[in-house]
Amino acid sequence: MAGDTPILREYRAVKAEHPDAIVLARLGDFYEMFGRDAEVASPILGVALTGRSFGAAGRVPMCGVPFHAATHHVRRLLGAGMRVVMWDQVGDADGGKLVRRDVTRVLSAGTAVDAELLADDAVLRCVAVVAGQGRAGVAALDASIGDLELMELAGGIDSSVLGEELLRLDAAELVVPESGAVSDSVLAGVPRAVLPDSLFDVTRADQRLLTFSGVANTHALGLDDVPLARSAAGAVLAYCERAHIVITPELLRIRVRRPGSTMRLDGATRRNLELLSPLGEGTSLHSTLDRTRTPMGSRLLRAWLQEPLIDATAIAHRAAGVQAVVRDQTARETLAAALRAVRDLERVVARCAQGSASPRDLAMVRDACAAVPHVREALANVVHAGAASDAVEQCVAPGAVIDRLAQMLVEDPPANSRDGGSIRDGADPELDTLLAAGAGARTYIAGLERSERERTGIRSLRVGYNRVFGYYIEVPNAQRGGVPDGYERKQTLVGAERYVTADLKEQESIVLHARERAVVREQELLREMASMVALHAAELERTARALSTLDALQSLAHVAADRGWVRPEVDDSEVIDIEAGRHPLVERALGPGRFVPNDCTLDAAERLVILTGPNMAGKSTYLRQVAIIVLLAQIGSFVPATRARIGVCDRIFTRIGAHDDLSGGMSTFMVEMAETALILRQATSRSLVILDEIGRGTSTYDGLSIAQSVVEHIHDSPNLGCRTLFATHFHELTTLAASLPRVRNARVEVVEEGGAVTFLHRIMPGGADRSYGIHVAKLAGVPASVLVRARGLLADLEQSRPLAGRTDGGAGQLWLDIAPPADHPVVSELAELDIDQLSPIAALNKLAELRERAAT
Ligand SMILES: Nc1ncnc2c1ncn2[C@@H]1O[C@H](COP(=O)(O)OP(=O)(O)OP(=O)(O)O)[C@@H](O)[C@H]1O
Ligand SMILES: [Mg+2]
Repeated sequence: MAGDTPILREYRAVKAEHPDAIVLARLGDFYEMFGRDAEVASPILGVALTGRSFGAAGRVPMCGVPFHAATHHVRRLLGAGMRVVMWDQVGDADGGKLVRRDVTRVLSAGTAVDAELLADDAVLRCVAVVAGQGRAGVAALDASIGDLELMELAGGIDSSVLGEELLRLDAAELVVPESGAVSDSVLAGVPRAVLPDSLFDVTRADQRLLTFSGVANTHALGLDDVPLARSAAGAVLAYCERAHIVITPELLRIRVRRPGSTMRLDGATRRNLELLSPLGEGTSLHSTLDRTRTPMGSRLLRAWLQEPLIDATAIAHRAAGVQAVVRDQTARETLAAALRAVRDLERVVARCAQGSASPRDLAMVRDACAAVPHVREALANVVHAGAASDAVEQCVAPGAVIDRLAQMLVEDPPANSRDGGSIRDGADPELDTLLAAGAGARTYIAGLERSERERTGIRSLRVGYNRVFGYYIEVPNAQRGGVPDGYERKQTLVGAERYVTADLKEQESIVLHARERAVVREQELLREMASMVALHAAELERTARALSTLDALQSLAHVAADRGWVRPEVDDSEVIDIEAGRHPLVERALGPGRFVPNDCTLDAAERLVILTGPNMAGKSTYLRQVAIIVLLAQIGSFVPATRARIGVCDRIFTRIGAHDDLSGGMSTFMVEMAETALILRQATSRSLVILDEIGRGTSTYDGLSIAQSVVEHIHDSPNLGCRTLFATHFHELTTLAASLPRVRNARVEVVEEGGAVTFLHRIMPGGADRSYGIHVAKLAGVPASVLVRARGLLADLEQSRPLAGRTDGGAGQLWLDIAPPADHPVVSELAELDIDQLSPIAALNKLAELRERAAT
């Protein structure tokens, strides 16, 4: 490598340490990328690929971005799934020596905690997973708040529990051991970092846990029974260290999660119930419920939706908090107003601990602390309010921090500390002295114009400042004759000359020097304040969590109050009893007064409802509505109904609609059966099962047989018998109610009048006998000729091949008001054509003629 420039040598060393990352090397005002990195990054960033000659190393491909736009470009690289190393200049460039450079950050999807890279609503979790002896250890670190969640799951690495946990955690990045074990299908598409197995070694992991948590021995951490999770935690902390993220003992919060402590939700159910994102256009359940006033409150609400509770007492505790705020409108409004000032306290405190807080961040801590008394006051009259009361208790702001920040910071400090201006006048004598020195000189300079005009008699003399030359005295060419001795020429313009004097230079140096030192002093003061916040991080983070809880509670209360929801009675029964329930999303989409409420009763005696009814009647809506109401009840929310009693469900399963998973290599029917299989294998007698048209994706007889046997299995199997709603177009299934005691039929009512069908969207007892599919086809604009043919075929089929179990023998065909296509003259002419009398040529001519006329 002789002939390499020193910088290239250093660069190669960094690259060798981070072979899987794009290295951004700070060279002056640019971040440059070299070699393969440049080739990969330039198309992603849309910047030109150039090259540069490095002595004997030859020409190296290269591209660069201006340093002030780095954030934007880093975000793009991360977005493309890249890992990014910031190789920055540290120390000064003077002395003609090589500037010292160090890796200051390693950024990846799960570690980009920087304020500019992290969206308010984004969850940033790096999740380490390790397997052993049929179990999986999981450690999820949210480095933006210092939260580390540990758990151990039975069932190993490919189990559905693990998959569900990773979904719940919103893993942004997976950290896995080199030796594999975690198959690529686990969270496919989420970037993964592969670390040496040694980092997962439990002894080393324990050591790291102790260092990070500042605790003397592992027993004190209470993690003795989760060794695999400890291994994972060691690895994720090591990864974080490598990324240059600081997690102090005050910031780190370690929690162990016991499996089965909350409701499990599989991916399909999350999607079907539109928890976080809508299936079509519309809105998600989260955005419908989100009336939070802080980003952290919104994230907590999201977490609540992802893990409904299964303990009736815990649910009641939360619901009591919502209820207290629903009842007291004044409390609700003042609380909401007070929370506005709180902002993203949990992340801001973490940035203080991580040494990346801006002056504005410190002001946010100050304002949030100042809001605490207002929050407490808003809820002063709210007592015995479960989760709300607990949270109010926990809301405390350390007096020392409040006083210091209030005393030091200006009202509205700048976003960075580069130019000063964050500290109040009179707050720090040293700073004041520096500023005063600068001010004296500035006053001198300000007066200079007048005094020099008087001294020289040059009326148009001017004193000015520019970045390159600093302060100068400008004299127009016409007056140049009057320039006194001691003026030193600095710059020549078209119509004027610029000068400096020894005096001016001295004063200028005082101004600039004072400013520089003042900025340094300010930064010192800001750092002190940030460390003070960092020392109180644990307390402040607890307050932040309490404030988030209050925010999420008031959000649910706001929605409940605005939309007339009620507090459900939640108990350990096996009942679901909903009076006048509504689907919150469909109701909102339809607008006020348009949604038809429906009841739902499932209990020990009748726990399996077979719902039939025409297409478009509202079967799917009803099924989802019941599931959503149960879910809302179990997160402690009020529900859209006039009354509801919900016996806690351990899981909600949904099998809804047909969708393809082509990228996963499954056909529509295969997906349907896989989801059904999962339900039959995993549901318990305490689950709620929503089955929407299973068996639809195959031939009628196949489908019907599968559907019927699924119903029988759920009904008869001793450990199933779960509460089930089954919507189907197989009307034959309604006969099952006669033979299976816990099955009940329900149908969605429609009114037929003169061939027109009106959908009432009302659920009634009993079964329906037809689907009106052809009617819906008509509504959808299928051509009349097709409809007429379909109606004919339907009549034939129902006469000749009644499906087994039919009770009405196919009688009573619905007469649909579908007109056959009007006779076209071409049609009658065609009918009369005597083909035998036509030669082939004549036939072709006739055909061409008819086609022409048909087109007019
Ligand atoms: N309770 C209701 N009140 C008012 N409108 C409703 C109600 N339920 C459903 N709708 C309306 O009817 C539309 C169709 O509902 P849904 O998809 O639930 O029908 P479906 O019976 O499942 O039909 P298909 O058999 O074709 O799947 C909904 O998009 C909604 O606009
Ligand atoms: Mg449907």
